Amino acid sequence: MLILGIETSCDETGVALYHTERGLLAHALFSQVAIHADYGGVVPELASRDHVRKLLPLIEQILAEAGLARADIEGIAYTAGPGLVGALMVGGAVAHALGFSMSIPVLGVHHMEGHLLAPMLEQNPPAFPFVALLVSGGHTQLVQVSGIGEYILLGESVDDAAGEAFDKTAKMLGLDYPGGPRVAALAEKGQAGRYRFPRPMTDRPGLDFSFSGLKTFTLNTVNAARAAGDLGDQTRADIALAFESAVVDTLAIKCKRALQLTGCKRLVIAGGVSANTRLRAGLETMTAKLGASVFYARPEFCTDNGAMIAYAGAQRLRAGQQDGDRIAAVPRWPL
Ligand code: KG4
Ligand code: ZN
Repeated sequence: MLILGIETSCDETGVALYHTERGLLAHALFSQVAIHADYGGVVPELASRDHVRKLLPLIEQILAEAGLARADIEGIAYTAGPGLVGALMVGGAVAHALGFSMSIPVLGVHHMEGHLLAPMLEQNPPAFPFVALLVSGGHTQLVQVSGIGEYILLGESVDDAAGEAFDKTAKMLGLDYPGGPRVAALAEKGQAGRYRFPRPMTDRPGLDFSFSGLKTFTLNTVNAARAAGDLGDQTRADIALAFESAVVDTLAIKCKRALQLTGCKRLVIAGGVSANTRLRAGLETMTAKLGASVFYARPEFCTDNGAMIAYAGAQRLRAGQQDGDRIAAVPRWPL
């Protein structure tokens, strides 16, 4: 079954063609980062309008790359939420219009389920069951996964998401949006040991997270350095490294706890922050000590993309699930 996947939940227009027997055939992404750069964050209306401009040309592009025609598509999956409602509506409208005109099934899928299953697109995919750490711009969650749609929430952030903390730290350090990769690059030049940031909520039991105190700690550290006339490149790099190390340690401590609690030997990390090299290394070390393994997607499939939506949709469409004639656009939607 050939599935077209469409992702338009935020500021990336992502499309992909996934075949249930032949695997991923083509994918493309247009990032709107430059469009929103002047505003310091994503402007919802600009995001919707650009999805309108880019979506159909991108679909034609991947069909051409795969040597296929529109008529070859046998099902369409689109991101139904969570996300920006206008942006979601664009993907849903295109999916439903195409599906209706071709009399093929269409299905709205959960964006975080897409992230969660993205490592399945790689060479050595994880088998069920596993524990998943979902770390994106809007979510930080630990989930016990027994199969497609069989998800038990083990813990989540009570305030900011890890990616959000990266983005806000970037802003404090004078770096552009999206901040995660930029903070990580700056941290490369940092010297360990100069600052020690807290590991929030690790000294008490449970699997919830909190990153808003860490954000305040970063702000206080930046302000103190500025007041002392010492906010040069090295200090900024040292702060970036101290922040990143605190996030990585905190996530690793909670992941270890989740593996021990569930008895699972497989950890999956997904979402934008799972592209972080230091996080991957920290979790490799932690899981090796436990005799467990960690799985993640290639960096371009950690952040938003169409391939993960095509894959997640394919699993459900081939099981017979499909939308009625209504477009689903659900801005807030728990996994
Ligand atoms: O999954 P994603 O692309 O979008 C959401 O669903 O939110 O995640 C985006 C988030 C942003 O906060 C971005 O700063 C963060 O992922 N991110 C990173 C890295 N790459 C992206 N954070 C840390 N290190 C990275 N290398
Ligand atoms: Zn995402």
